[in-house]
Amino acid sequence: RAMREFVAVLDYGSQYAQLISRRIRECGVYCEILPHDLKAPELDSMHPGAVVLSGGPASVLDKGSPGIDPEVFELGVPILGICYGLQLTSKVLGGVIERGRSGEYGPALIEIDVPGRLFDGLGERLDVWMSHGDHVSVPPEGFTVLAHTDTCQVAAMADESRKIYGVQFHPEVAHTPLGKEILRNFLYKIAGLSGGWSMKGFIEESVRSIREQVGDSKVICGMSGGVDSSVVAALLDKAVGPRMTAIFVDNGLLRASEAQEIRRTFTETYPLNLDIVDARKRFLDALRGVTDPEEKRKVIGKTFIEVFYNEADRIGGAEFLAQGTLYPDVIESRSAKGGPSATIKSHHNVGGLPPDLKFKLIEPLKELFKDEVRLLGRELGLPETIIERQPFPGPGLAVRILGEVTAENVEILQEADKRVQEEMAAWEGYRGVWQSFAVLLPVKSVGVMGDERTYANVIAIRAVHSVDGMTADWVKVPYELLARMSTRIINEVRGVNRVVYDISSKPPSTIEWE
Ligand code: XMP
Repeated sequence: RAMREFVAVLDYGSQYAQLISRRIRECGVYCEILPHDLKAPELDSMHPGAVVLSGGPASVLDKGSPGIDPEVFELGVPILGICYGLQLTSKVLGGVIERGRSGEYGPALIEIDVPGRLFDGLGERLDVWMSHGDHVSVPPEGFTVLAHTDTCQVAAMADESRKIYGVQFHPEVAHTPLGKEILRNFLYKIAGLSGGWSMKGFIEESVRSIREQVGDSKVICGMSGGVDSSVVAALLDKAVGPRMTAIFVDNGLLRASEAQEIRRTFTETYPLNLDIVDARKRFLDALRGVTDPEEKRKVIGKTFIEVFYNEADRIGGAEFLAQGTLYPDVIESRSAKGGPSATIKSHHNVGGLPPDLKFKLIEPLKELFKDEVRLLGRELGLPETIIERQPFPGPGLAVRILGEVTAENVEILQEADKRVQEEMAAWEGYRGVWQSFAVLLPVKSVGVMGDERTYANVIAIRAVHSVDGMTADWVKVPYELLARMSTRIINEVRGVNRVVYDISSKPPSTIEWE
């Protein structure tokens, strides 16, 4: 059968599905995450060199749990099932699965019984990460048990002749130290892939597919000035030149001096077809009286789209809208109905789009992580000031002003946030910080300034470490730095008399407060 240097990951709703695809790309093989109910002929038409079935929160023993077209196992393409994927393989091919009484979560040691090609060269015992309730007690006919633990008879199994493999543990997480080697064995030794893919290849592939998709039409690109949308604009600029218009909407919810910086960057340093729209009043009007976080996000998403429609008309019509959606945005905003995982927040560039959107979407970064996008940006020649920028949410300061967004609140937050930015940027630990910003709380507290009583606003400072925005921990910033930020904000920003520091991790909190 025809085979491309490409792996299809079928998604069963694991929060780790993107990690699987990322590890595969780290092995130099292009990879995409696809819906689990894809029919075998459609999958076959993409000519994958291998298929990986991800983990997921369901139990294969439950009615209505996500399945697979059984014909996929007949395609002759090498398959690796991970966790739920292993159990599903067993179920479809006739093995026995048992509901666990207690499950197995966390580190485990597997004993390799038969290394096969999957564990080739990796020793007799491996530290792995387990996270499962059910387990396979009898593998399907034709399968050999490759590894077990004290509590799990089938920690890995294989039908080497059909190249179908399954592992109960998670090779994609960092807690399985040799996990990448296992994936490498699967990709290279079993599937015969060669691993020459790189960011350069990604650019070529994207440019080609964008040109094909766009044809002679026009594209508008929603540009926030963050690394993601800047990379998308640069990619489109490369693919279709001035037939792309990058629209930067000044929605009045930006950080201080942000609009000026963007104008400078994309007219002088990295010139492209840029359109800056002043929509400050429009957004503030739309947000009047809105206090519910999800409602705010929806209102902002809707207003963005209205502005995009206007601008599309102004340039004589655009068929496509390009945006910098990343994988973590997709997974956290997907509705419980649309996919097997739960909605956390409606990220405005995913969950806020109307169902009858007049544009066709172009989302070239949908499968990538932030640090991969940064690599891509460097490859495209974008300036470091853009590439090293901290992420900034699409709904802007609106999700950092708890309660109603008013012009006055925006100004207080911009002033406080500017001081957080300045002081953080001057700190030696700043480069490792994922995000640092100020949040305006909807409470007032009593203070004393001079000999006067004050009754004013509270600012929370948030600073987190993260690698992909999916999990995060608060930064242990030095007390002296906290003190400087607090003193400056209270002394210099009118309307603030108290500053607190947020010491919550994600999960269970989120990075933004709304
Ligand atoms: P949370 O608050 O969900 O944020 O932990 C995770 C990361 O995503 C950013 N974020 C957004 N980005 N549109 C975006 O483009 C949005 O609606 C949005 N909401 C949150 C957030 O700043 C953090 O980096």
